[in-house]
Amino acid sequence: MDSFLIKGPCRLQGTVEISGAKNAMLPLMAASILTGGECVLENVPELRDTLTMKHLLEVLGVPVELGGGRMVMDASRVDHHEAPYDLVRTMRASIYVLGPLVAKFGRARVSLPGGCAWGPRPINLHLLGLKALGAEIKIDHGYIDAAADRLRGNEIILSLPSVGATINLIMAAVLAEGKTVIENAAREPEVSALAAALKKSGAIIEGEGTSRLEIEGVSSIRPFRHRVIPDRVEAGTYAAAAVLTGGEVEISGCRPDHMTAVINKLTSCGAEIDMRDNGLLVRGPEVISPVDIETGFYPSFPTDMQAQMMAVLCRARGSSSVMEHVYTERFTHVPELRRFGAQIILDGSVAVVTGVDSLQGAPVMATDIRASSALILAGLVSEGETKVLRIYHIDRGYERIEEKLRALGADIQRIKS
Ligand code: EPZ
Repeated sequence: MDSFLIKGPCRLQGTVEISGAKNAMLPLMAASILTGGECVLENVPELRDTLTMKHLLEVLGVPVELGGGRMVMDASRVDHHEAPYDLVRTMRASIYVLGPLVAKFGRARVSLPGGCAWGPRPINLHLLGLKALGAEIKIDHGYIDAAADRLRGNEIILSLPSVGATINLIMAAVLAEGKTVIENAAREPEVSALAAALKKSGAIIEGEGTSRLEIEGVSSIRPFRHRVIPDRVEAGTYAAAAVLTGGEVEISGCRPDHMTAVINKLTSCGAEIDMRDNGLLVRGPEVISPVDIETGFYPSFPTDMQAQMMAVLCRARGSSSVMEHVYTERFTHVPELRRFGAQIILDGSVAVVTGVDSLQGAPVMATDIRASSALILAGLVSEGETKVLRIYHIDRGYERIEEKLRALGADIQRIKS
């Protein structure tokens, strides 16, 4: 397994170009199944997850061409309706094919996704919603068997504004008979991006970006061509790196309007952040001020930026609290950050971080996409050498991260195993 070797400390300077958003691309790839034709996605990031979803679509009979940030998916000959365990266990977002397969073909067999590094990640809301639309759901030998002659619109109230459940149910409802209302829907930009692409294809959807969606089912939708929105978590990660290293970084091609909560918190840490036409200029402070973080559903502070923010707070002058409300056990990065000398006390879903004057480089272990990026950030600002192991996690969600960081002045090398 590859690892990163980082020599610190450094101050990041320069410009970084933000890639397309993984969490917008994956639903759009699954949505091609609904169209029965050739769909095109631009600004596609080349990630491990891109290749995993490409492989899954090909297993279902959707040839996928990928190159130069452009993806062409031909969904005219879907001839298989099963998402196998070995793919679903490597990427939970494989569950996104469930809604489209049932909506388009009346059946699907999708492996139950397992848990992840921070505990169980149920999909009960996905299944309850599909049942409300008339699907018959059985669990059989670790697989979800779903069937419906034709889905019928209904009123669905989500007990949590789940991103995945909202996405799956939008795709199921688009071809259902009649009207579907989804109350307490997720408001993330990636959900709105999916709705925008489907509307371009003839779907009738109202309310995207709000917690109430109305979807009028249609008999079919046309293939779409869509440009993937920039990755707000990648952009937030580089902004946090600029603050942590006291550098000055132009974050080009991001959508500041998708990053309000993160921009506000980094500003409270003392960063100077200028909005530019198509991005941000982030200047890190000489001294990082402590702040309190509470993660929540969009537009609250994103759980996907919690680990990165914690890395910043390890060098703040004072104590900060980090409360994780979305995944209450999402703290696998804490013991690894402690290896750098960070002072973190963890009590349930609350961490108290007391900033230290310096961090020491150390060998550490990546556990998930965002925790990996937090360890890299800590390595950039630590004295001496850091080795981040199991970086296949980071390759799932960050395109060419070592190249982008080297271009900003970091000393980071990929060590091939
Ligand atoms: C999406 O995961 C993202 N993944 C996650 O990003 C992100 O952390 C998460 O949304 C929250 O923003 C993708 O978009 C591929 P949820 P998802 O359903 O859809 C509970 C990354 O690093 N829940 O919004 O799985 C769940 O346990 C990844 O890019 C249920 O109880 O998240 C959690 O507490 C990590 N039942 C909360 O809802 C369900 O059926 C939010 O989960 C579904 C979810």
